[in-house]
Formats: sequence, structure tokens, C-alpha cells
Amino acid sequence: MPENQNMPFLSVKDLVTEYKSDGKIVHAVNGVSLTLDRGRTLGLVGETGAGKTTIAKSIMRILPDVGSKIVGGQVLLDGRNLLDLPEHEMRKIRGNTISMIFQDPMTALNPVQRVGEQIAEVVKLHSDPGTDCEQRAKEMLEVVGIPAERYYEYPHQFSGGMKQRVVIAIALACNPLLLLADEPTTALDVTIQAQVMDLIVDLQKKFQTALLLITHDMGVVATVCDDVAVIYAGHIVEFGSKEQIFDHPTHPYTIGLFGAIPDMNEDEMWLHPIEGLPPDPTDLPEGCPFHPRCKHATDACKHGPIAPVTTADGHMCRCCRLDEISKEAN
Ligand SMILES: Nc1ncnc2c1ncn2[C@@H]1O[C@H](COP(=O)(O)OP(=O)(O)O)[C@@H](O)[C@H]1O
Ligand code: SF4
Ligand SMILES: [Mg+2]
Repeated sequence: MPENQNMPFLSVKDLVTEYKSDGKIVHAVNGVSLTLDRGRTLGLVGETGAGKTTIAKSIMRILPDVGSKIVGGQVLLDGRNLLDLPEHEMRKIRGNTISMIFQDPMTALNPVQRVGEQIAEVVKLHSDPGTDCEQRAKEMLEVVGIPAERYYEYPHQFSGGMKQRVVIAIALACNPLLLLADEPTTALDVTIQAQVMDLIVDLQKKFQTALLLITHDMGVVATVCDDVAVIYAGHIVEFGSKEQIFDHPTHPYTIGLFGAIPDMNEDEMWLHPIEGLPPDPTDLPEGCPFHPRCKHATDACKHGPIAPVTTADGHMCRCCRLDEISKEAN
């Protein structure tokens, strides 16, 4: 993790989040640390179940009331720990300072309310009295490429891509400083995925938003992200600039994910399936969580927490056999 002289805009430190399910503890997020600055994009990549959505929901503090718990750590936004704030203050921050775009636009919209009104409602919650919320909502529709006169229509009159544009308009209606986008294009038709992603990035650049982008599409990571964090079983196993991660991946999991050496110029790059399954989060292995699937694993990998090693230029890898593996490769 890079040591910034100035405090980063978002700094997640040692976050631990658990669920309770069927009387067992699900260890979803196990000591995650991340940093993100204004105007920058951090890609969070990893297999399904790795804990990506749980991290975003922990930052936003929108985990289910029952059966989930942030057990430890800090979420510092501009130096303020969000985990210490009373709920009424957190409510002001949600939608105002931080917004989240979920994977499925269908569930994010109210089917029986006009789309424009849904945007206007969010504007009203977060703007000064006297603001013309309808006008602002119409402007937001135009910003996401939807004619203002469609304000009066209902979600079912919109295509999937248009609905996700509305969700983006809602998320950005109050110019959030931090946007959490959780697989924002996965539910959309392939032909419009790029358009919607371009829209998010254009708006992010315009408003200098910090963007945490959860995705499994490595093509998107290659074109959009500044930094990349690779997550496995609720642990960040590698973190670095996009170039460090793409050109010099060091963690055996990252190398496995990329499969054949990825080519940043290719249009489509998907995470490569790795042999074996991720561990059961209710019964994580001791030591490195990747050891049951890692071809480099030795006894040393099976005991105690694995300390992260960070190079002078901020490339972090959590593997105790890093030196041996890089020697073997050369
Ligand atoms: N509400 C919940 N109750 C119990 N377990 C959950 C809940 N939500 C997620 N999990 C579990 O937590 C782990 C992390 O899930 P999630 O954060 O959704 O991963 P990702 O977004 O990377 O796919 C998974 O094992 C998942 O099954
Ligand atoms: S710590 Fe051991 S098991 Fe884990 S990735 Fe490194 S070599 Fe593999
Ligand atoms: Mg998810």
C-alpha cells in the first residue's frame, strides 16, 4: 500500500466484516486495507464470494441489520472514521458524499414511481430548501443521455441500459465525492456495457469523484483503473498500479487469475478460472488462504498470518514465498 505524505481521501484500514448464517460465522472480509484519492479509480477484482460487495456495503454501512457485523477496522473518509458516526450522520453522508451503484438496476428502482421523481427525491433529500428538484432531475437525465421529457415515464418503459443510466443519475445527482460501483454493467446487454462504463468514467472525471470499481472484467480494469486490488477469501493479496498488476503480477493467485499473460491492448480480458475452489468462508484455512490451491505452497504457508510485503514504489503482495517464486521464474 503506498504511504502517502498527505492523508488519502478514503482509507480503509484492517476492515473485518462477518455474517452469521445457520449458526456459523461467515468470515467475509478479513483485515482489508485500501486507499483511494479524489479523481482516482481503484479496481477491486476477485472471484464471486471473495468479499467485494461486503467491503462496499461496509464502507456505506448498509449491511443487513440482522446477521452482519463490522468486527474491526476503520473507514476513514477525509480523516473521519465513518464506523464511529451515529446513524443519522451516516444517513447524510450516503447519497451526499458517498453513492453506490449496484449490479442490478432492476432492483434499485421503484417500479411504480416515475423515473424523474425518483431522481428528484434524492436531490430533495440532499439539497438546500428552495432548490428546483424537478429541474435538477431533468438536468441529470440529460447528463446521462436521456431526454428530459422522459422524466414522467416509469421504469418498465425503459430498457435495461436506460434503467442503469437512471441509477447512475440518482447516484450522481448530488455530486458524490466517492462512488462505489459494484459490477455496474454486469446485468446489462454486452453491446451497451461499454457505453454505460464510459458514462460513469466521464462523470467521474468531470466531478473528480473517487471511484471504487468492483468488476471481473479485466478489459474494464485495463482501460479505466489507476490502481488494482486483488481480493481472495476476504484478504487483499496484491495491490498496485494497473501497470504493476498487469505487467508484473507477483502473487500466485493474481498470476493464476490472469492465466496467459494478459495483453492490455486486447478488448476482452476475463478473469481466468483457477483449478480448485475458494475456501469455505465459515472454515478458512490457517495461514495463507490460497494455500490449498497454490502450486508453490509449502509448510511455511500453512501457519500464522502472512505479512504483506510492499516495494518502495507501492506494489504490495501477501505471499511468504515471493522471493523463491520470483527466482524460480527467472
Ligand atoms: N447476508 C449475508 N449473509 C450471510 N453470508 C453472506 C451474506 N452476504 C454475503 N455473504 C457471504 O459473504 C461472502 C462474501 O460475499 P460478497 O461480499 O457478496 O462477495 P463478492 O461480492 O466478492 O461476490 C460470501 O461467502 C457470501 O456467501
Ligand atoms: S503464501 Fe504460499 S500458498 Fe500463499 S500464495 Fe504464497 S506460496 Fe502460495
Ligand atoms: Mg458482489
